[in-house]
Formats: sequence, structure tokens, C-alpha cells
Amino acid sequence: MTSIFHLEVGADRLATLTFDSPDRKVNVFTRAAFQELERVIDELAARKDIGCLILLSGKPGSFIAGADVEEIARVTDPVEAEAGSRVGHRLFSAWEALPFPTVAAIRGICLGGGLEISLASTYRVASDRPDTKMGLPEVRLGILPGWGGSTRLPRRIGIAEALDLILTGKTVVGRKALKLGLIDALLPDARFLDTLRDFALERVDKPRRDEGEFDLKEMLLEKNPFGRKILFDQARKKTLETTHGHYPAPLRAIEVVRVGIEDGPRAGFDAEARAVAELATSRTAKNLIHVFRLTEEAKKENGLPGAAPREVHSTAVLGAGVMGGGIAQLIAAETALPVRMKDVRDEALASGMQHASRLFTKQVERRRLAAPEARRKMGLLHPTLDYTGFRSVDLVIEAIVENMGVKQEVFAETAKHVAEGAVLASNTSSLSVGGIGSKTPHPERVVGMHFFNPVDKMPLVEVIAPEGSDPAAVNTVFAFTRKLGKTPVLVKDTPGFLVNRLLMFYSTEALWLLDEGYRIEDVDRAMADWGMPMGPMALTDEVGIDVATKVAHILHDAFSDRLPVPDWLDKAPQSGRLGTKNGKGFYRYEGRERKEPDPEIYTLLGLQPRVENPDPGLIADRMVLPMVNEAARCLEEGVVRSAAELDLSLIFGTGFPPFRGGLCRWADQENLSRIVATLERLESTVGDRFEPSDALRGTVEAGGFYARFPSGSPARD
Ligand code: NAI
Repeated sequence: MTSIFHLEVGADRLATLTFDSPDRKVNVFTRAAFQELERVIDELAARKDIGCLILLSGKPGSFIAGADVEEIARVTDPVEAEAGSRVGHRLFSAWEALPFPTVAAIRGICLGGGLEISLASTYRVASDRPDTKMGLPEVRLGILPGWGGSTRLPRRIGIAEALDLILTGKTVVGRKALKLGLIDALLPDARFLDTLRDFALERVDKPRRDEGEFDLKEMLLEKNPFGRKILFDQARKKTLETTHGHYPAPLRAIEVVRVGIEDGPRAGFDAEARAVAELATSRTAKNLIHVFRLTEEAKKENGLPGAAPREVHSTAVLGAGVMGGGIAQLIAAETALPVRMKDVRDEALASGMQHASRLFTKQVERRRLAAPEARRKMGLLHPTLDYTGFRSVDLVIEAIVENMGVKQEVFAETAKHVAEGAVLASNTSSLSVGGIGSKTPHPERVVGMHFFNPVDKMPLVEVIAPEGSDPAAVNTVFAFTRKLGKTPVLVKDTPGFLVNRLLMFYSTEALWLLDEGYRIEDVDRAMADWGMPMGPMALTDEVGIDVATKVAHILHDAFSDRLPVPDWLDKAPQSGRLGTKNGKGFYRYEGRERKEPDPEIYTLLGLQPRVENPDPGLIADRMVLPMVNEAARCLEEGVVRSAAELDLSLIFGTGFPPFRGGLCRWADQENLSRIVATLERLESTVGDRFEPSDALRGTVEAGGFYARFPSGSPARD
């Protein structure tokens, strides 16, 4: 009796094995699926009535999503992890050795173990529909393809292309897969089953091609040992540069691929199994899997209870600047909805349109979008200096200058031009959303929708529900954020909301380090080495020194002694240093390219760099621990609903290092009592601002962030 795999054999000797995990939306290789597949393969090997076998998915939207992540999350014993890898090798090698040709029929996502069994099939064909995507995303979970994928893929598509897929975990669509030689045929989706059948019928009782042999691509560089050495060395160098040594999986993957190519498949499989034993049980893998789960959990969150989101048919964006231009382009790119883009200056509209056009051109160049489609999407953008057409708009997103008076006025004015029921959202980064909406006739329909810069890249949107807001309006913004492909997180209408508040405690401490004589490059290097995407001073340049200073003042006003700011803070923006946008900041710039720190900045700010050989660990403590301290306060105040949502927000909004699993998880793992002790030490040696909060002490007593603030807790008032 089989319940997951269903075999049908036709009179024409064409057989179909359908993979259909009961009770799951997508097929995954669980322990049970493997046990059943093993029995099926034994049976198949003995059958004489099969001339060709198709592997098909019973799920309409996907092929095979890979291994069961929960099983990987649970494994703590390296011996067990290694055994799990070897079972896959045994099974897929037995699949590969079946006495007739096999065809993996890929329609929808085909990831990890799904691609590994496909690589062990004689042929792979894929549907041309856009959601057919193939890849080996294991490194994103801190492991590597350990069921033969690291060994088989380079032999199929060449070392360089295989490394590109394995080290990034990216996916490719059908057309690209065909070009790479990853699949043998691309079938039109409308006639998928018919053309698949024809493809397979032609191969009934035909000899399996290159029995047991792999077709290593004939590439000059890859064929000779010197060429290969260069290739592997370059991959190692590039990986170290991008990971700062924090992610062991890609480095191991390079080594495993090398062994598989140079010493043969059997040695490759052995190397895979040994690497999986080590990687799957490591803290890095557990943390990355944790982040994966947070992402999955976030997909189920739904804003406020009690109201369905409204349909959005037409949108408008106020302000065509850095953020407004980006938001308008995103709407056109991700939805088929028209966007009116309003500004008060013609030049701003022109530059907003140019910005959008540049982003579309980039998508066309990267073959993510066809040129006519890009033109059609550009056509959705309607630049305007007045409110024409606003009557039919359901959602307005404001991204004008960060000034309460101006925003209040603009909201009151906009409310006069939109239809009853329209939702007005503000992208403000630091002002009270309740305050912004207070001059409109329906403040309950004014919601915060805080994007991060750059809009096209950062996956987070904070959705801010001021007190008394209409749940339907909040949920409309929530649902629309998801339509834009972003992750919405519900946060309270308090200064800095969640992400900027935490970030400000971090970046202001960097200013104090400079004040004490630390050098810009030492502070930035310490944090980049800790795993941040860039150091705090480079980030300030990126955000805009004027913007960052404004937010620092607003949060200093809100938190006073807890967030003191140096008195030289305003000197940089006052002198015209705005950061990357005008090529003058803490760093020197050539065009948009950041060079070394600008020595003149120290004189301008009245600082004397004098700390030699600083301790990077101390720098990291000084900057990260205040965030931990403040995170406890944010959770206690209900600024965000759970430790999990806080962690995901920082990762998606600031690039907080995923391998650390998130701020709260990292703090829990580091031992919160030790963190409190370090804060106490800093309080006595550096300043009162480090005083551990009652919220943090309460969190220690409750057994940590995740114990005290679990998901699903109604922390909001
Ligand atoms: P920006 O200065 O690049 O753009 C603002 C635009 O608004 C300008 O083109 C200006 O002409 C236009 N504008 C001014 N008054 C207007 C009015 N009454 N009606 C229509 N347009 C008007 O500013 P940016 O950086 O795009 O910021 C806009 C908003 O987004 C601010 O609230 C800011 O706090 C927020 N934000 C900024 C982020 C950043 O990294 N720059 C990140 C997240 C939010």
C-alpha cells in the first residue's frame, strides 16, 4: 500500500509515478516519504513491463519543495545528520540505476531534494510557466545539497554555473535552465501533459544515456587542473569577502564540489555526507532555519482582528522623491494598478519617473521582465501636480518632507479630494501617525506604512495603527503590502516605531565612540565583521546625514537621557554634508562609490581620533547591547507583538545578520544574565545610558525573550 507515491503503468510501457504528500500543500521529502520511495524503487527495479518512467507531482502548483525543514531543525546529532544524507544518496543512486529511462517532469517550484532527484533522473523537462523555478537553496539554511546535488550538478552544467547556483541558493526559471543544460526540454504549459507524454514515449525502451557516467561540460577552464584551481580559489575569495567568514556552508560546498569533480562521484557523496553532519548541527544552521521559520510564520499574520481588508483598485503616491519614486515604481512593478504620482515640483516628477524607468530597465536587462511588459508598467504611472483623478483612488501613500505641519496640511487637503472610505497612509519614519491624521475628517483611516530604503530591495514594511484606527483601513494597508511582495509587521504608533528606534540606540552609540576618539573605520569594521551589512557611519551616509540627524533629535526628545546625542551632531548636516546623496559625508566619495573616511570630518566635528588598536568585541558590545536593552522595552510596551516579529523586522529592515538568528534570539543564546552584567559594567565605566532596563531584567527572570514574548501573544493594547 502506498499513500504518497502512486504508480500507474500503461499498456504502452509508459509508467507514471505521482508524488503527492497527503495533508501538505507541497511535496517534501519527509522520513516517511523516503521510506515509501525506497519500497517503490525496489518494486520498480524488478518490473519488466516499464519502458520509461515519468516522475510527476500530484500538486497543481508545484513539483517538489525539498527536504522537510522541521526534520533538519530537529537533528542535533552529527551521526544522525550524516545518516540522513547517506539515505538520500542510496535512494537517488538506486533511482538513477533503474533499468529504464526516467523523466522528471518539473512544473512549479523544484527545490533542494526535488532538484537532486531530478538530477539523478535520466531526463529533466520543465514547464515554461513563470512559477517553475529550480534551485538548490540549502546554503540559505546553513547546509549544502547533501543528497547528491553538490556532486551531480557541476557534472551536468559545469563547475562555474553549478557554484553560482549552490553558493547563492538562487533559483532559475525554465528558459535559463534550458540554456544552462539543467533541463533537456522546455514544454509549453498549456499542453504540458501531452508534450511530456510524447517526450517520454519517444524514449520507451531506449537505452539510458551515458549509463552511470556524467556529462562533464567540455569547458577549457574546467578541464585542466590549473583552470579548476583558479576557479575554486576565486569562488573561495569571493565567498570570504561576502560572508566575512560567518557562513561556513558556502566554503564547505566549494570543497565538496571540488572533491566530487576531482575524485569522482563516490568521494563527492562521502564529502557531502561529512559536511552535512557538521553543518546541519551547527548554531549557524539552526539560526538560519529559525529565520526561515520566522519568514513562514510572518506569512500567516493578518493585521488587526475583526475586519476584512478593502479592495484596492487605484492608488496615488504623494512626493516623487527618493521614497515616493521608489514606492510608485514598486506598485507598478508588482500590481497591475494605476498609480498617480503627485509632487509640487515638475523636476521632482521628472526625476521620480526617471528613477522608475531606471529600475524597470534594470529588470529588463536582468531578464526578469520583457521590454513590452516594462513599457506597459511604466504606462501605469501618471505624474501630476494636482489632485485630478484622486476621486477614484482607494489608497494614497504619502512620502513628502518629514515635517509634521506640512504633513498635517497635506493630509487635510488630500482628504478633500478622495472618495469616502479611501485609506490614507504615511511613510513617515519618525513622526506620530496619529498626529499626521489629526486634521482630517476621518483620522481613523490614516495609517502608517513605513518602507525602508532602498524600496525595491528592503523586504520590510512597518504598518502603524494609531490608537482608534479603523481595523479595515489597517488591514487594507497590511494586505496591500503583501501584494507588493513585502513583509508587513504591525507596530505601535510610538517614536521611531520599532526599527528606527532600535537602530538609533545603535548608531548614536557609534557617535559617542567617535566622541571618545575611536576612528570611523575601526567602528565600521568592527560592526561589519560582527555581521552587519555595513558599519554605522557608512549607513548614516547612506540614509542621509540630514535625515539621520532629524530622526536622532526626534528620538532624543522622546527618550531624553536614555538616548543622549553629542552636541556636535548638527555640524555635519549644517556644513552641507548630507552623505551618499551629495557625495560628502563621514566618507569620501567618487561618484556614488564610497572611498576611505574623510579626514576633514574630524576637524569639522572637533574630534581627535586617538584610540589605537581598539577592541572590536568592546565596540560591538557598546553598540548591540543598547539595542537588546531597548528591545525588551519595545516588547513590554507592545510596540511589536513578539520576539519573533522583532527579530524578523530587524533582519528585513536593517540587514541584521541572519546567521545570528535575530537580535532577541542572539541575546537569548548569549545568555541574558551575562548581557545584563556587561550592561552594568558599561553603566559604571561609560555612562548611565547603559543601565539595564526593568523590562530586560524581567525578561531574564522569565527565561529569555522567546519565553516571555512568544508568537501569538496579544501584546498590543
Ligand atoms: P525627498 O526629499 O527625497 O522627497 C520628498 C518629495 O516630496 C520631494 O520631491 C518634494 O518636492 C515632495 N513634496 C514636498 N511637499 C509636497 C507636497 N505638499 N505634495 C507633494 N509632494 C511634496 O524625501 P524622502 O527621503 O523620499 O522622504 C520622504 C518621506 O519618507 C519622509 O517622511 C521620510 O521620513 C520618509 N522616509 C525616508 C526614508 C529614507 O531613507 N530617505 C526611509 C523611510 C521613510
